[in-house]
Amino acid sequence: MMMDNNIKKPVIIHTLHSSSLISPFPSSSMASFIPFLFSLILIFTISISAAPISFNPKDSFYIACGSNQKITTPDGKTYQSDQDAHGFLAAEDKYLVSDPNANGPSRIYNSARVFLKDATYTFTLQDSGWHWVRLHFLPIKTDIFKLETANFNVFTDEATLLHSFSANNLTKKEYLIHVKSQRFNIKFEPQKNSAAFINALEVSTAPEKLIGETGQKLYPVGQFDGLNQKSFQTVYRINVGGDLITSENDTLGRMWVPDEEYLKTKNMAKNMNVQTNVIKYPELVPSYMAPQKVYATAAEMADSNTIQQIFNITWEFGVEKSYPYFVRLHFCDIVSKALNELYFNVYINGKSAISGFDLSSITGNLATPNYQDIVVDSSLIDQDKIVVQIGPAQVESGPKNAILNGVEVFKMNNIVGSLDGEFGPDGKAIPQEGHKKMVAAVGFAMMFGAFVGLGAMVVKWHKRPQDWQRRNSFSSWLLPLHVGDSAIFGKSNYGSHRSSVFSTGGFGRRFTFEEIKECTKNFEASGIIGVGGFGNVYIGTLDGTQVAVKRGNPQSEQGINEFMTEIQMLSKLRHKHLVSLIGYCDENNEMILVYEFMSNGPLRDHLYGKNMAPLSWKQRLEISIGAARGLHYLHTGSAQGIIHRDVKTTNILLDDNFIAKMADFGLSKDGPGQQADHVSTAVKGSFGYLDPEYFRKQQLTDKSDVYSFGVVLLEVLCARPAINPALTREQVNLAEFAMNWKRKGMLDKIIDPVLVGSINPESMKKFAEAAEKCLAEYGSDRPTMGDVLWNLEYALQLQEASVQGKTKDISTPGTNSTATSPTAAVESAPQPRPNAIIPEQTQGLDDKSGTALLAQFSNLSGR
Ligand SMILES: *[C@@H]1O[C@H](CO)[C@@H](O)[C@H](O)[C@H]1NC(C)=O
Repeated sequence: MMMDNNIKKPVIIHTLHSSSLISPFPSSSMASFIPFLFSLILIFTISISAAPISFNPKDSFYIACGSNQKITTPDGKTYQSDQDAHGFLAAEDKYLVSDPNANGPSRIYNSARVFLKDATYTFTLQDSGWHWVRLHFLPIKTDIFKLETANFNVFTDEATLLHSFSANNLTKKEYLIHVKSQRFNIKFEPQKNSAAFINALEVSTAPEKLIGETGQKLYPVGQFDGLNQKSFQTVYRINVGGDLITSENDTLGRMWVPDEEYLKTKNMAKNMNVQTNVIKYPELVPSYMAPQKVYATAAEMADSNTIQQIFNITWEFGVEKSYPYFVRLHFCDIVSKALNELYFNVYINGKSAISGFDLSSITGNLATPNYQDIVVDSSLIDQDKIVVQIGPAQVESGPKNAILNGVEVFKMNNIVGSLDGEFGPDGKAIPQEGHKKMVAAVGFAMMFGAFVGLGAMVVKWHKRPQDWQRRNSFSSWLLPLHVGDSAIFGKSNYGSHRSSVFSTGGFGRRFTFEEIKECTKNFEASGIIGVGGFGNVYIGTLDGTQVAVKRGNPQSEQGINEFMTEIQMLSKLRHKHLVSLIGYCDENNEMILVYEFMSNGPLRDHLYGKNMAPLSWKQRLEISIGAARGLHYLHTGSAQGIIHRDVKTTNILLDDNFIAKMADFGLSKDGPGQQADHVSTAVKGSFGYLDPEYFRKQQLTDKSDVYSFGVVLLEVLCARPAINPALTREQVNLAEFAMNWKRKGMLDKIIDPVLVGSINPESMKKFAEAAEKCLAEYGSDRPTMGDVLWNLEYALQLQEASVQGKTKDISTPGTNSTATSPTAAVESAPQPRPNAIIPEQTQGLDDKSGTALLAQFSNLSGR
């Protein structure tokens, strides 16, 4: 149902004399009155602003994807090649194909881009809010690919546009997406052993008021809020009673088709039309809502006013079930001779949509456009169609008639944000069954079928907060700012340089681009230590200190202001267990962050997979305690109650001295303190660590971090990933697996073999209890990070006491800030090997005696 986007800019000037509004006013005698002059000016202004004006989109990207040059179509629109800087294409396996003989309606169809792997077009937008996305497909003949068999998915960050889609002939798709971020992505994802292709695509701004926040629910009657949180796909756009309106003749580039095809009983309706210049847009209906041509034609009841017959005119539109639909009906009374003659009813799918509709009372004039927005819930679509009916209202006397001028039908995204198929843009799927037994099959959860407590859940997807994407777009590579007042650097390289490296301002030091270039040896490729969607991470040297330099992708020219806002927010976070940001560079619109280099990398690398020297139990405890402190600070500290959202072993980094610091607040959001009592948001975070309650309620609390931290503790104890799909069904999910074994009282059978013998059973027991509490099904049953911290400290003291009491821990005489390196732990401080005897005095320890012991241990460990 869609159309070439040919945005023409018709300039139709309405002359003053055409305004019938003036005539009712008295003439000469009143003319001298200032109030009258004032109203005249007012009327003049209204009538000018009511004239159709063209809409100029701030963003307009027209891409001839397969072409290596620009193409100007006969209607005067120019499509850039996707090799031009306009549309940024990131794809690994991309091909240009062309067929000069392809029989598409314009040259943009003579070539196509083919992808064998995921490919993403990224556009940097001037404007957030509504945008048209139009996709053009024609499976042209090529020697290499059979494009008609290509099967693929298309996503934006907001919605799944196409799922398992194939185009075997010319296909155009049109969407309205409410974009929240300046960076807009369209991702093509080939299905297994298949390819994806696209001939042309368009992204352009649509007026923000095109679809407002609210509509009317069809049934039960009520207001539908949050329309602008939804994504829409155009399915029908009908000029009732009129002719085809091509995209050149619509300022928003829409095509309107005649209604005959959809009209049920043709002889019940009669077409009516008036001159287009009779149509006058009232202030509340911007002229882009629909062209004058739409309002200047209508269907009315055949033989109306002559035979006093009561019947309905019916249109039927085939639709796909299980999606809600947005129906916009356009009305303009071009049939009545006078006001207040027309009263009619409108039905959708047999339900009353508007009853006793009295256009005169709304518009106050004839020939004045009006539209009504109705949201049809998926539950009201049982026969794969939307049926629109109009019929006269039951009034005693007077003419009986009903009219309709235009219909637009949009598919709305389903509960997982998809306009096609059961998978949302995040990979989450629609729950499979009815309420009670509903399984929240979310992304990999479905594949692995192994997520703790995912059974018996009802998923409720909340609206995303307005700005969640904007926030993610930047903070995904920002780290907390640390201006440096902590003793933790006492022994690190930092100490002596702090005064020169750190500034006193709240943003850390502002570097010049020259300084950054020098520090990274002009972004030397060999200095790249990390690569991500945001750009690269380089190692650099600043005043003799190693630093990590994150440089935002120069392709994204977006919001230096947002960048600064984020830094400002993060600058409130200062803690010795948070990775510190040293400064930034915003020169030349660069977005560069300089932060502490964590020489020992992520905790995970020291646990498994990298063949690194194993960490001792004491080190593991100290690292866990450090990470817990960092989180505790985020949750409760002076900052603002921050939820980390992505607690995992790769986000716990270790410095030279194996001090743990929380990193990557990529997914952080302000905690409840600022907003309601929770933060509702789309599912983010890492699989295997996600709080089951988060799935249920889509509500994020600090207890979601506590859950994830419980998984981290198990990973530390068992030295295996949170999710390991290579294992058997029972073993895939660490949280589930370990808790099963703990319940059987055999947790010691699955711990890291390296620890066996050196780990004090009581210390392990305390530690495992802490993990178990963290993993409680309900957030309210989970401890706070403060409680977790206490338990971990206790576990450390139990370990230290046992070692001191029996075997003497040579490597750790001091406090926890002088943790040993793993090498030292292994070489110079051999831990008891498997089968070593565990100190007797702590074996039978229970919680009650623990308290007494704790005080005693406190002295021993110097805390
Ligand atoms: C018009 O359609 C509605 C809804 O389908 C129905 O309830 C009503 O009876 C119809 N009116 C007439 C006159 O057929």
